[in-house]
Amino acid sequence: MRCLVTGSRGLLGTELVERLRAKGEEVLGWDLPGHDVTDVGRTINRIHKVGPDVVFHLAAWTDVDGCEKDQGKAMSVNFQGTWAVALGAEELGCKLVYMSTDYVFDGRKKRPYRENDKPGPLSVYGRSKLMGEQAVTRTCKRHFIVRSSWLYGGRGRNFVDTIRRKAKEQDRIEVVDDQVGSPTWAADLCQPLHELAQSDKFGTYHITNSGQASWFEFAREIVKLTGADCEVVPQTTEQAGRPAARPALSVLENRNFKRRFGRVLRPWQDALQAYLG
Ligand SMILES: NC(=O)c1ccc[n+]([C@@H]2O[C@H](COP(=O)([O-])OP(=O)(O)OC[C@H]3O[C@@H](n4cnc5c(N)ncnc54)[C@H](OP(=O)(O)O)[C@@H]3O)[C@@H](O)[C@H]2O)c1
Repeated sequence: MRCLVTGSRGLLGTELVERLRAKGEEVLGWDLPGHDVTDVGRTINRIHKVGPDVVFHLAAWTDVDGCEKDQGKAMSVNFQGTWAVALGAEELGCKLVYMSTDYVFDGRKKRPYRENDKPGPLSVYGRSKLMGEQAVTRTCKRHFIVRSSWLYGGRGRNFVDTIRRKAKEQDRIEVVDDQVGSPTWAADLCQPLHELAQSDKFGTYHITNSGQASWFEFAREIVKLTGADCEVVPQTTEQAGRPAARPALSVLENRNFKRRFGRVLRPWQDALQAYLG
């Protein structure tokens, strides 16, 4: 398959490009500053020129608190950029895999979210990603929307590396205990993304590592596995005082992937252990 990956230098993009190439796929990557997906005309033209069988659209402005302060930029990258990619993919007739997020939900449910649960984003980031989903659904027939959560791995800033570093430098760290989600190793997501792209089972999928934890429980497991001598102390979301609201429950039931592909990803604790090596 000829694959185009947008956001190819990001956390997930770095892993995906490497793993698709290892599977023998032909992969082209786009990222800033070489290609800005908010340039609608250029994006559509270049998709035609590249002629991919599938576009993995990962490029996004993922700074959740930053998006809250600059709604225009969030909408431009996460909605308009996605719309441009979806238009290009539809005109060419290729498949589109769009990465979305648990933050499209309000987190007030008492059970894991299913693919057909009603979204209700609490933040500008969540709204802009949901509008990206709607642009994909309305514009491109051969699409997959994949919502995942709490990614780590690859390149750039991520929670696991931050906690690992802080636990070496400090004897005490405070971590939020009233937001629950499914930590997911980006590397574990790459195989399902590849499988989807090879199939014609279009639609919306929740794909995460199995199980759930609060950020506090996740941090405690990281500290335990790295053997650092650091106390992890729970704090509330209110105490953390972040600009953007986050869902209290971010757990995604991997219902469609399990039904259509017959499996779920391994427990988050096993993935974390593998990542930490
Ligand atoms: N991280 C998570 O926990 C998580 C959870 C669920 C879903 N997702 C989704 O998964 C996808 C990948 O996430 P990630 O964590 O890998 O994000 P990331 O590390 O921030 O990577 C996104 C990449 O897109 C690039 N980009 C930003 N604006 C662009 C533009 N206008 N044109 C082209 N490229 C642009 C970024 O470049 P700069 O770094 O220069 O801005 C970055 O390299 C995103 O769509 C995100 O919404 C992430």
